[in-house]
Amino acid sequence: MPAWFHLGGSSFYYEVLIGRRDARNASWNDANRNLPAPFFNFSQLISNFQAHGLDLKDLVLLSGGHSIGLARCTTFRARIYNDTNIDKCFAASVQQVCPVSGGDNNTQPLDSTPARFDNVYYKALWKSQGLLHSDQDLFKGDNSESDRLVRYYSYLPGHFARDFGASMIKMGNMKPLTGNDGEVRLNCRKNN
Ligand code: HEM
Repeated sequence: MPAWFHLGGSSFYYEVLIGRRDARNASWNDANRNLPAPFFNFSQLISNFQAHGLDLKDLVLLSGGHSIGLARCTTFRARIYNDTNIDKCFAASVQQVCPVSGGDNNTQPLDSTPARFDNVYYKALWKSQGLLHSDQDLFKGDNSESDRLVRYYSYLPGHFARDFGASMIKMGNMKPLTGNDGEVRLNCRKNN
């Protein structure tokens, strides 16, 4: 089934598999056990993704999801005060939003165009302006495979759009529920 999303000019398209089953309930503990943390370094991110059958390319592409949305101060405070691989002007400006103490729920866009799905996220990593430690660890300036992927997608937005869709499908194929487990939702926002 075609899924379109239009966010501020660019139009991304990829085919999604229909009839996917959602769980009827969610688990706080399972989520915390499986989700990567924003302070993870590169090797922790890779291990986490590999444990779910996703590779380096998927990690770089799916992190591009951070082209959209915001993060709370608690998730990037350690980065903006302690990290060394951060643009000084960028750190100073984000520190205005996220003080050393207090303001835990203050938010900052994950890239400079948070309502537009584009490849600006990757361009920011080049400039050491990644908001999360986990974002910036994808680009270290050491010409690693990860660096090369970040450069590639920052040059080629069309390739980012195409490959992002493929990685989303791959992520959606992780342990899909089958048989009578879960349900196909009539309204994707809530249980039937
Ligand atoms: C690579 C490992 C990842 C880490 C460590 C990570 C971490 C985070 C954190 C800490 C936030 C802010 C949450 C908050 O402050 O409450 C966030 C937001 C977000 N993440 Fe990720 N994430 C990762 C992967 C992904 C993936 C794979 C996607 C989707 C393809 C994604 C899409 C988003 C979006 C859209 C937001 C913004 C949510 C909003 O504005 O409400 N992230 N992420």
